[in-house]
Amino acid sequence: MAKKRLVSGMRTTGSLHLGHLEGTLKNWVALQDKYECFFFAAVWHAFTDRLKIDNLPAVIEEMVVDWLSVGIDPEKSVIMRQSSMHEHAELSTILCNYTPLGWLERCPTFKDDVRDDEARSKVSLGKLMYPVLMTADIAAYNAEVVPVGRDQLPHLELSREIIRRFNGNIGEVLKEPEAVLSSVPLLPGIDKRKMSKSYNNSIELRETAASLKDKIQQMITDPQRVRRNDPGDPEVCAVYAYHKIYTADRLDEIASGCRSAGIGCRDCKNILFERLNNMLEPIRSRRAEIEARPGYIAEVLSSGEDRAHAVAGATMQTIRKAMGFIS
Ligand code: TRP
Ligand code: SF4
Repeated sequence: MAKKRLVSGMRTTGSLHLGHLEGTLKNWVALQDKYECFFFAAVWHAFTDRLKIDNLPAVIEEMVVDWLSVGIDPEKSVIMRQSSMHEHAELSTILCNYTPLGWLERCPTFKDDVRDDEARSKVSLGKLMYPVLMTADIAAYNAEVVPVGRDQLPHLELSREIIRRFNGNIGEVLKEPEAVLSSVPLLPGIDKRKMSKSYNNSIELRETAASLKDKIQQMITDPQRVRRNDPGDPEVCAVYAYHKIYTADRLDEIASGCRSAGIGCRDCKNILFERLNNMLEPIRSRRAEIEARPGYIAEVLSSGEDRAHAVAGATMQTIRKAMGFIS
Protein backbone atom coordinates (compact mmCIF):
# COMPACT_ATOMS: atom_id res chain seq x y z
CA MET A 1 0.00 0.00 0.00
CA ALA A 2 1.27 3.46 -0.86
CA LYS A 3 2.39 5.54 2.05
CA LYS A 4 0.26 8.48 3.05
CA ARG A 5 1.71 11.82 2.20
CA LEU A 6 2.85 14.18 4.94
CA VAL A 7 3.77 17.87 4.74
CA SER A 8 5.24 20.12 7.38
CA GLY A 9 7.14 23.37 7.47
CA MET A 10 9.25 25.40 9.83
CA ARG A 11 9.68 29.14 9.62
CA THR A 12 13.16 30.48 9.03
CA THR A 13 13.43 32.44 12.24
CA GLY A 14 17.07 31.72 13.12
CA SER A 15 19.11 28.92 14.58
CA LEU A 16 17.30 26.00 16.12
CA HIS A 17 17.16 25.19 19.82
CA LEU A 18 16.19 22.25 22.00
CA GLY A 19 12.55 23.33 21.86
CA HIS A 20 12.58 22.75 18.09
CA LEU A 21 14.35 19.43 18.57
CA GLU A 22 11.97 18.06 21.20
CA GLY A 23 8.81 19.72 19.91
CA THR A 24 9.17 19.17 16.17
CA LEU A 25 12.27 17.57 14.78
CA LYS A 26 12.31 14.31 16.74
CA ASN A 27 8.75 13.83 15.60
CA TRP A 28 9.65 14.51 11.97
CA VAL A 29 12.52 12.05 12.13
CA ALA A 30 10.25 9.36 13.55
CA LEU A 31 7.59 9.90 10.88
CA GLN A 32 9.97 9.57 7.94
CA ASP A 33 9.57 5.82 7.51
CA LYS A 34 5.84 5.70 7.92
CA TYR A 35 4.92 8.51 5.51
CA GLU A 36 6.05 10.05 2.26
CA CYS A 37 7.39 13.24 3.81
CA PHE A 38 7.79 16.76 2.44
CA PHE A 39 9.57 19.13 4.79
CA PHE A 40 10.09 22.75 3.86
CA ALA A 41 11.60 25.98 5.08
CA ALA A 42 8.59 28.29 5.45
CA VAL A 43 10.44 31.32 4.14
CA TRP A 44 7.42 33.37 3.10
CA HIS A 45 5.72 32.75 6.43
CA ALA A 46 8.84 34.05 8.19
CA PHE A 47 8.25 37.41 6.51
CA THR A 48 4.91 37.77 8.28
CA ASP A 49 6.94 38.65 11.39
CA ARG A 50 9.82 40.63 9.92
CA LEU A 51 10.12 42.61 6.73
CA LYS A 52 13.75 41.84 6.05
CA ILE A 53 15.84 38.80 6.91
CA ASP A 54 19.58 39.38 6.73
CA ASN A 55 21.68 36.66 5.12
CA LEU A 56 18.61 34.65 4.28
CA PRO A 57 20.46 32.04 2.20
CA ALA A 58 22.73 31.34 5.18
CA VAL A 59 19.76 31.24 7.56
CA ILE A 60 18.02 28.67 5.37
CA GLU A 61 21.16 26.63 4.92
CA GLU A 62 21.83 26.53 8.67
CA MET A 63 18.32 25.36 9.33
CA VAL A 64 18.57 22.59 6.77
CA VAL A 65 21.96 21.54 8.14
CA ASP A 66 20.35 21.34 11.58
CA TRP A 67 17.54 19.18 10.19
CA LEU A 68 19.98 16.76 8.59
CA SER A 69 22.21 16.69 11.67
CA VAL A 70 19.35 15.39 13.82
CA GLY A 71 18.41 12.71 11.31
CA ILE A 72 16.13 14.14 8.65
CA ASP A 73 17.25 12.05 5.69
CA PRO A 74 17.12 13.57 2.19
CA GLU A 75 17.08 10.04 0.73
CA LYS A 76 13.77 9.43 2.48
CA SER A 77 12.20 12.85 2.66
CA VAL A 78 11.81 15.75 0.28
CA ILE A 79 13.47 18.89 1.61
CA MET A 80 12.67 22.22 -0.01
CA ARG A 81 12.24 25.95 0.31
CA GLN A 82 8.69 27.29 0.20
CA SER A 83 10.11 30.31 -1.63
CA SER A 84 11.16 28.08 -4.54
CA MET A 85 7.69 26.61 -4.91
CA HIS A 86 5.58 28.90 -7.11
CA GLU A 87 2.81 26.28 -6.91
CA HIS A 88 2.19 27.22 -3.27
CA ALA A 89 1.78 30.86 -4.25
CA GLU A 90 -0.56 30.06 -7.12
CA LEU A 91 -2.71 27.86 -4.95
CA SER A 92 -2.78 30.45 -2.17
CA THR A 93 -4.08 33.01 -4.70
CA ILE A 94 -6.85 30.61 -5.61
CA LEU A 95 -7.74 29.47 -2.10
CA CYS A 96 -8.11 32.98 -0.69
CA ASN A 97 -11.40 33.22 -2.59
CA TYR A 98 -12.73 30.26 -0.65
CA THR A 99 -11.76 31.83 2.67
CA PRO A 100 -14.23 34.20 4.30
CA LEU A 101 -12.54 37.11 6.02
CA GLY A 102 -14.40 36.26 9.22
CA TRP A 103 -12.66 32.88 9.46
CA LEU A 104 -9.26 34.53 9.27
CA GLU A 105 -10.17 37.32 11.69
CA ARG A 106 -11.42 34.81 14.24
CA CYS A 107 -8.21 32.80 14.09
CA PRO A 108 -6.65 32.93 17.59
CA THR A 109 -3.15 33.69 16.35
CA PHE A 110 -4.48 36.62 14.33
CA LYS A 111 -6.64 37.88 17.20
CA ASP A 112 -3.52 37.99 19.38
CA ASP A 113 -1.95 40.33 16.84
CA VAL A 114 -4.85 42.77 16.62
CA ARG A 115 -5.71 43.51 20.24
CA ASP A 116 -6.64 47.15 19.51
CA ASP A 117 -7.33 49.53 16.59
CA GLU A 118 -3.76 50.71 16.51
CA ALA A 119 -2.48 47.15 16.07
CA ARG A 120 -5.21 46.47 13.56
CA SER A 121 -4.22 49.37 11.34
CA LYS A 122 -0.67 48.06 11.22
CA VAL A 123 -1.18 44.33 10.79
CA SER A 124 -0.25 43.07 7.35
CA LEU A 125 -2.35 41.25 4.82
CA GLY A 126 0.32 38.54 4.91
CA LYS A 127 -0.38 37.93 8.57
CA LEU A 128 -4.10 37.67 7.92
CA MET A 129 -3.49 35.29 5.01
CA TYR A 130 -1.06 33.14 6.98
CA PRO A 131 -3.48 30.19 7.25
CA VAL A 132 -4.39 30.43 3.55
CA LEU A 133 -0.77 30.09 2.50
CA MET A 134 -0.39 27.26 4.99
CA THR A 135 -3.37 25.53 3.39
CA ALA A 136 -1.77 25.92 -0.01
CA ASP A 137 1.52 24.44 1.33
CA ILE A 138 -0.42 21.36 2.37
CA ALA A 139 -2.91 21.06 -0.47
CA ALA A 140 -0.27 21.47 -3.19
CA TYR A 141 0.80 17.94 -2.25
CA ASN A 142 -2.67 16.71 -1.39
CA ALA A 143 -1.17 15.79 1.95
CA GLU A 144 -3.27 13.74 4.35
CA VAL A 145 -1.08 14.11 7.39
CA VAL A 146 0.34 17.28 8.93
CA PRO A 147 2.42 17.12 12.10
CA VAL A 148 2.10 20.39 14.00
CA GLY A 149 2.46 21.79 17.46
CA ARG A 150 -0.62 22.52 19.53
CA ASP A 151 -0.41 26.24 18.67
CA GLN A 152 -0.94 25.37 15.00
CA LEU A 153 -4.14 23.38 15.47
CA PRO A 154 -6.48 26.31 14.75
CA HIS A 155 -4.61 26.87 11.49
CA LEU A 156 -5.06 23.28 10.50
CA GLU A 157 -8.75 23.38 11.34
CA LEU A 158 -9.03 26.40 9.05
CA SER A 159 -7.17 24.53 6.33
CA ARG A 160 -9.71 21.76 6.51
CA GLU A 161 -12.57 24.23 6.20
CA ILE A 162 -10.99 26.07 3.28
CA ILE A 163 -10.40 22.79 1.47
CA ARG A 164 -13.95 21.64 2.19
CA ARG A 165 -15.33 24.87 0.75
CA PHE A 166 -13.09 24.58 -2.30
CA ASN A 167 -14.15 20.98 -2.89
CA GLY A 168 -17.79 21.90 -2.35
CA ASN A 169 -17.60 24.31 -5.26
CA ILE A 170 -15.07 22.80 -7.61
CA GLY A 171 -15.41 19.08 -6.92
CA GLU A 172 -13.59 16.58 -4.73
CA VAL A 173 -10.15 17.64 -5.84
CA LEU A 174 -8.25 18.13 -2.60
CA LYS A 175 -7.86 15.93 0.46
CA GLU A 176 -8.68 17.19 3.92
CA PRO A 177 -5.52 16.94 5.99
CA GLU A 178 -5.39 15.47 9.49
CA ALA A 179 -3.22 17.01 12.17
CA VAL A 180 -0.90 14.73 14.08
CA LEU A 181 0.08 16.27 17.36
CA SER A 182 3.45 15.54 18.78
CA SER A 183 3.43 15.01 22.54
CA VAL A 184 5.42 18.11 23.23
CA PRO A 185 7.53 17.94 26.35
CA LEU A 186 7.62 21.32 28.00
CA LEU A 187 11.14 22.67 27.89
CA PRO A 188 11.45 26.09 29.46
CA GLY A 189 14.25 28.50 28.61
CA ILE A 190 17.19 28.71 31.02
CA ASP A 191 15.37 31.53 32.84
CA LYS A 192 12.18 29.42 33.14
CA ARG A 193 10.24 31.58 30.67
CA LYS A 194 9.11 30.12 27.35
CA MET A 195 12.15 29.12 25.32
CA SER A 196 12.57 31.70 22.61
CA LYS A 197 15.36 33.21 20.61
CA SER A 198 14.02 36.68 21.41
CA TYR A 199 14.31 36.13 25.18
CA ASN A 200 17.90 35.00 24.73
CA ASN A 201 17.20 32.03 26.98
CA SER A 202 17.47 29.10 24.60
CA ILE A 203 19.84 26.17 24.41
CA GLU A 204 20.86 25.88 20.79
CA LEU A 205 21.53 22.74 18.80
CA ARG A 206 24.83 24.36 17.87
CA GLU A 207 25.98 24.74 21.46
CA THR A 208 29.60 23.64 22.04
CA ALA A 209 30.42 21.67 25.18
CA ALA A 210 31.80 24.87 26.71
CA SER A 211 28.84 27.08 25.81
CA LEU A 212 26.42 24.36 26.93
CA LYS A 213 28.17 24.17 30.28
CA ASP A 214 27.91 27.91 30.59
CA LYS A 215 24.18 27.97 29.80
CA ILE A 216 23.45 25.21 32.30
CA GLN A 217 25.41 27.14 34.94
CA GLN A 218 23.07 30.07 34.29
CA MET A 219 19.87 28.04 34.60
CA ILE A 220 17.45 29.25 37.23
CA THR A 221 17.09 26.77 40.09
CA ASP A 222 14.83 26.91 43.15
CA PRO A 223 15.44 30.47 44.41
CA GLN A 224 14.75 29.31 47.99
CA ARG A 225 17.77 27.03 47.79
CA VAL A 226 20.41 29.55 48.72
CA ARG A 227 22.90 27.42 50.62
CA ARG A 228 24.05 23.92 49.81
CA ASN A 229 22.17 22.42 52.77
CA ASP A 230 18.86 24.21 52.09
CA PRO A 231 16.27 21.71 50.87
CA GLY A 232 14.85 22.52 47.43
CA ASP A 233 11.68 22.07 45.41
CA PRO A 234 12.53 20.50 42.06
CA GLU A 235 9.16 21.42 40.58
CA VAL A 236 10.05 25.12 40.50
CA CYS A 237 13.48 24.52 38.97
CA ALA A 238 14.34 24.81 35.26
CA VAL A 239 17.10 22.20 35.59
CA TYR A 240 14.58 19.67 36.84
CA ALA A 241 12.26 20.33 33.89
CA TYR A 242 15.15 19.17 31.71
CA HIS A 243 15.90 16.17 33.92
CA LYS A 244 12.30 15.07 33.38
CA ILE A 245 13.13 14.60 29.73
CA TYR A 246 16.80 13.75 29.67
CA THR A 247 17.39 11.97 32.98
CA ALA A 248 14.10 10.11 33.32
CA ASP A 249 15.91 7.01 34.62
CA ARG A 250 17.27 8.88 37.68
CA LEU A 251 14.40 11.25 38.29
CA ASP A 252 13.34 9.96 41.73
CA GLU A 253 16.88 10.06 42.97
CA ILE A 254 17.29 13.66 41.79
CA ALA A 255 13.94 14.83 43.16
CA SER A 256 14.48 13.31 46.58
CA GLY A 257 18.11 14.44 46.60
CA CYS A 258 16.93 17.98 45.94
CA ARG A 259 14.19 17.84 48.60
CA SER A 260 16.53 16.47 51.24
CA ALA A 261 19.51 18.63 50.20
CA GLY A 262 21.25 15.35 49.50
CA ILE A 263 22.55 16.70 46.23
CA GLY A 264 23.69 20.22 45.49
CA CYS A 265 22.64 22.26 42.50
CA ARG A 266 26.13 22.09 41.08
CA ASP A 267 26.11 18.27 41.00
CA CYS A 268 22.57 18.29 39.69
CA LYS A 269 23.60 20.61 36.86
CA ASN A 270 26.63 18.47 36.10
CA ILE A 271 24.39 15.44 35.63
CA LEU A 272 22.28 17.42 33.18
CA PHE A 273 25.34 18.68 31.37
CA GLU A 274 26.57 15.11 30.82
CA ARG A 275 23.21 14.01 29.48
CA LEU A 276 22.69 16.94 27.15
CA ASN A 277 26.24 16.92 25.95
CA ASN A 278 26.02 13.21 25.14
CA MET A 279 22.86 13.83 23.20
CA LEU A 280 24.35 16.75 21.26
CA GLU A 281 27.66 15.06 20.51
CA PRO A 282 26.50 12.83 17.63
CA ILE A 283 24.48 15.77 16.26
CA ARG A 284 27.67 17.86 16.27
CA SER A 285 29.68 15.23 14.48
CA ARG A 286 27.02 14.72 11.83
CA ARG A 287 26.89 18.48 11.36
CA ALA A 288 30.67 18.58 10.92
CA GLU A 289 30.42 15.88 8.23
CA ILE A 290 27.70 17.78 6.41
CA GLU A 291 29.53 21.07 6.61
CA ALA A 292 32.64 19.42 5.19
CA ARG A 293 30.78 18.82 1.92
CA PRO A 294 30.62 22.12 0.05
CA GLY A 295 27.56 22.43 -2.14
CA TYR A 296 25.81 19.51 -0.47
CA ILE A 297 22.88 21.49 0.95
CA ALA A 298 22.36 23.26 -2.37
CA GLU A 299 22.14 19.80 -3.97
CA VAL A 300 19.72 18.51 -1.36
CA LEU A 301 17.46 21.51 -1.94
CA SER A 302 17.57 21.43 -5.70
CA SER A 303 16.83 17.72 -5.91
CA GLY A 304 14.13 18.08 -3.24
CA GLU A 305 12.57 20.95 -5.13
CA ASP A 306 12.60 18.93 -8.38
CA ARG A 307 10.71 16.14 -6.61
CA ALA A 308 8.36 18.66 -5.02
CA HIS A 309 7.64 20.38 -8.34
CA ALA A 310 6.72 17.04 -9.87
CA VAL A 311 4.05 16.45 -7.22
CA ALA A 312 2.82 20.01 -6.72
CA GLY A 313 2.87 20.62 -10.49
CA ALA A 314 0.56 17.65 -11.03
CA THR A 315 -1.82 18.86 -8.31
CA MET A 316 -1.91 22.30 -9.91
CA GLN A 317 -2.68 20.83 -13.35
CA THR A 318 -5.64 19.00 -11.83
CA ILE A 319 -6.85 22.20 -10.18
CA ARG A 320 -6.35 24.30 -13.31
CA LYS A 321 -8.43 21.80 -15.25
CA ALA A 322 -11.09 21.45 -12.58
CA MET A 323 -11.51 25.24 -12.49
CA GLY A 324 -11.48 25.61 -16.27
CA PHE A 325 -8.26 27.63 -16.58
CA ILE A 326 -7.09 25.07 -19.13
CA SER A 327 -8.90 22.28 -20.88
N1 TRP B 1 2.98 27.71 10.64
C1 TRP B 1 3.88 26.62 10.90
C2 TRP B 1 4.65 26.91 12.18
O1 TRP B 1 4.91 28.04 12.49
C3 TRP B 1 4.84 26.44 9.74
C4 TRP B 1 4.12 26.02 8.52
C5 TRP B 1 3.91 26.76 7.40
C6 TRP B 1 3.50 24.77 8.30
N2 TRP B 1 3.22 26.04 6.47
C7 TRP B 1 2.94 24.82 7.00
C8 TRP B 1 3.36 23.61 9.07
C9 TRP B 1 2.24 23.74 6.45
C10 TRP B 1 2.66 22.52 8.54
C11 TRP B 1 2.12 22.61 7.23
O2 TRP B 1 5.02 25.97 12.86
FE1 SF4 C 1 17.13 22.31 40.75
FE2 SF4 C 1 18.68 20.24 41.00
FE3 SF4 C 1 19.13 22.43 42.46
FE4 SF4 C 1 17.01 20.91 42.95
S1 SF4 C 1 19.16 20.31 43.16
S2 SF4 C 1 17.02 23.15 42.79
S3 SF4 C 1 16.46 20.21 40.92
S4 SF4 C 1 19.29 22.24 40.25
